[in-house]
Amino acid sequence: MITFSKVSETTEFIQNQKDNGKSIGFVPTMGALHKGHLELMKKAKSENDLLVVSIFVNPIQFNNPEDLEKYPRDLTKDKKLLEEINCDVLFAPSVKEMYPDEVIKKYDFGSLETAMEGASRPGHFNGVGVVVSKLFNICIPHKAYFGEKDFQQLAIIKKLVEMESFPIEIIACPTVREDDGLAMSSRNERLTKTERASAPFIYEVLNMALDNRELLCPNILRQYVLNQFSDRPEFNVEYFELADDVNLQPVTAWNESIGTIGFIAVNLGKVRLIDNIRII
Ligand code: PAJ
Repeated sequence: MITFSKVSETTEFIQNQKDNGKSIGFVPTMGALHKGHLELMKKAKSENDLLVVSIFVNPIQFNNPEDLEKYPRDLTKDKKLLEEINCDVLFAPSVKEMYPDEVIKKYDFGSLETAMEGASRPGHFNGVGVVVSKLFNICIPHKAYFGEKDFQQLAIIKKLVEMESFPIEIIACPTVREDDGLAMSSRNERLTKTERASAPFIYEVLNMALDNRELLCPNILRQYVLNQFSDRPEFNVEYFELADDVNLQPVTAWNESIGTIGFIAVNLGKVRLIDNIRII
């Protein structure tokens, strides 16, 4: 695996590979790699000649300074995992390299960013849009892989590709879970033992929502889900929403032709966790 920290060297190397007919699969990450990340990478590796991974904890997508400061970082361990899956190129830049000047670019993703994560984390999706746009320009891939774990982010990235006319195919990959159902996340590392034991309840409740969808209309189902947490004080639910899988607008009545996802964000102790489940 070749590791680059400089923008120009990375682009030059990848462009050279493309000129030699190689196809490029790209997986952008913030590191603290786990099996969820690795599944995206294995898929990218199997569908392309070259696997390019980026590791960059992007400060401008964090609206909470404590979350940024506590974000787990272990480049040595990450590199070992990348070597094991035969990653070809790692791009791991510094903040200065990515943002030599103050960031002024602002994306407007319209209604895609006003709900759920966008509402809870002001500026978050602009930060994601800015960094992914830069990473696409630097790593110039044919295909880029994103997890459905961050379903709203995936919708934003598809919109970004459309807005910027990037010649890149976006590949959505299913959420990878622990055996007990908890969606894998770098933030899980920060849960205490007791919190970790409680955490699978999130996915249990999402499944309860799925099981009850034939019996309850969307508004009642929303309330039903929130009620499940009433005797679980360790959870602080930020939102549970049922939304259209394309425009992310809230669903008010079931319609078999509208793909519908149940989205949840909870705080468990000091850790904020998100998950989702397909309802239709
Ligand atoms: P990060 O949280 O490191 O996630 C990198 C990619 O891995 C994202 O596409 C995310 O959806 C996917 N992923 C994370 N956990 C997953 C799981 N359990 N199953 C499947 N896929 C999973 O998302 C980001 O970084 C950043 O916002 C980034 C896109 C890199 C921009 O900074």
